[in-house]
Amino acid sequence: MPEHEDGYRELRHAIMGYIVSQAIFAVTEAGVPDLLADGPAEAGDLAERAGADADALVRFLRVLVAEGLFTEGPRGTFALTATGAYLRADRPGSLRHLVTLMAGEPYRAWGLAGHSLRTGEPAFDELFGQPMFAWLRAHPAESAAFDTAQAGLVTVRMQPLVERDWRDARTVVDVGGGTGELLRTLLAGNPHLRGVLFDLPHVAGEADVPAERCAVVGGDFFTGVPAGGDVYVLAQILHDWDDHAALRILREVAAAMPPHGTLLVVEQVIPEDDARHPEKILDLHMLVLLGGRERTAGEWRRLFAAGGFALTEIEHGTRSVLLVGKLRGPGRTMSGQQDNGAGN
Ligand SMILES: C[S@@+](CC[C@H](N)C(=O)[O-])C[C@H]1O[C@@H](n2cnc3c(N)ncnc32)[C@H](O)[C@@H]1O
Repeated sequence: MPEHEDGYRELRHAIMGYIVSQAIFAVTEAGVPDLLADGPAEAGDLAERAGADADALVRFLRVLVAEGLFTEGPRGTFALTATGAYLRADRPGSLRHLVTLMAGEPYRAWGLAGHSLRTGEPAFDELFGQPMFAWLRAHPAESAAFDTAQAGLVTVRMQPLVERDWRDARTVVDVGGGTGELLRTLLAGNPHLRGVLFDLPHVAGEADVPAERCAVVGGDFFTGVPAGGDVYVLAQILHDWDDHAALRILREVAAAMPPHGTLLVVEQVIPEDDARHPEKILDLHMLVLLGGRERTAGEWRRLFAAGGFALTEIEHGTRSVLLVGKLRGPGRTMSGQQDNGAGN
């Protein structure tokens, strides 16, 4: 037996981790968690309904039983555990869409992770010849799947934002708002609110929002965002970009906002400790896919300041963090930019 047996076993598990991840993807894509929604099923029957090879399915499930996602009962029956139930599409807080987002092209980009390590640049661009959002624009089916998966995660991510007191707000501009999942929820829960959905034209063109209460604007947030809102939302946008690009977006928002406006950023915050934390992994995912990054609270504060905002509140939800920004008054120029600390 090797010395440090536990560590040795854990290291082997980590080295082979993508096999577990891809096994989760294959089994979920075949619909197995949904097929077990009503209770246990026998392996042969499950394989038939999932379109899987029966022997292969049992071997895949053996790995995922050990991961605590399924249980195996007598006579080869399988059931979901409480954790595995998050793989069902219809479950509140479902992680089904996260499974999709980690597979396909993003997974292939990870095959070139060494490129990102050496250069600090996204492996995605190296493999596919262009940045991910440009690639998506040229691939409508994958773009639609990406938008659907993002929308599917909105409910969990948006909880701290949706639960805010919206009584004083009038017009919410969702910058990079995808196809409108967040605005639909916000407008439904707050009848006095109006919305503006802003995203790239090919995404905004697919928006599904109530036309009488929500304008849809296609454009590029590096060259301007719609004026006229009193609340601006940037949800899962800034982590897609490095500091230089993120600052450009923040400055465009600052320029469009009235002085009393509020900026609501829904993101992740990397804890400053040595413990395992999903946001540390997500940070690498942003690098490999987009050249973006997750940030610590201190990094967020500095980015906000350089972009012209004071970070006034940090509210932790179960899956995301809400960062609230107010324009920093003194020194604000006509273009909305600060004359202090804007740096790069
Ligand atoms: C990670 S998704 C977040 C979507 C949504 N806010 C959410 O929380 O699910 C990033 C969004 O930014 C949009 N986007 C990327 N580049 C953009 C640009 N230059 N101008 C406007 N929107 C852009 C994408 O189309 C996509 O909808």
